[in-house]
Amino acid sequence: MLVICGNAIDNSRTQLLCNKLAQLNADTNLIDLKDKCLPIVGLPLDEQHRAEIDTLKAELKKHNEVIIVTPEFHGAISGALKNFLDYFSKEDFYDKKVFMLGTAGGNKGGINALNNLRLIMRSLGALVISDQIVFDPEDIDKTTGQINEMLLNRTLDVINKFTMNNLVNN
Ligand SMILES: Cc1cc2nc3c(=O)[nH]c(=O)nc-3n(C[C@H](O)[C@H](O)[C@H](O)COP(=O)(O)O)c2cc1C
Repeated sequence: MLVICGNAIDNSRTQLLCNKLAQLNADTNLIDLKDKCLPIVGLPLDEQHRAEIDTLKAELKKHNEVIIVTPEFHGAISGALKNFLDYFSKEDFYDKKVFMLGTAGGNKGGINALNNLRLIMRSLGALVISDQIVFDPEDIDKTTGQINEMLLNRTLDVINKFTMNNLVNN
């Protein structure tokens, strides 16, 4: 399983959640956009960027199941995540099972980013599963690292359903 952290802001709740998910299983890999910032699509790429893109595509190829965690920024996914996804095509995501999670600022935020991401992933040919979960600020405590148990267990239930795994939260 591959986890993509769609927030390039360091020490974010999104990152905390992704790190937790990435630790659940030895076969789970993490792509954290804070470490993978590529130029806006269309701007010049150097050798290092090209090598990075090849590595990212090879990594994605290894996984049939992908979890994408996106923050909601101004009613949409983050610019970092959109730019990252713009480097990929249908060929890369075709028939990959994608489970989307959102992190939001509260006040019922998150759904717009998830709807936005659903359209993008559909356009990339992915099989986006219908389950989706939003984490509000109070669900992820940056100081203690605690994540809302009920939401985490719901997340694990969905992951187990779509990966045929039996992961538990320890
Ligand atoms: C530029 C920007 C725009 C944001 N816009 C929204 C928004 O439209 N709706 C919302 O619920 N939260 C919004 N937020 C809050 C983020 O969703 C929230 O900070 C993030 O998802 C979760 O926290 P994290 O940054 O610690 O990961 C915004 C944050 C930033 C930095």
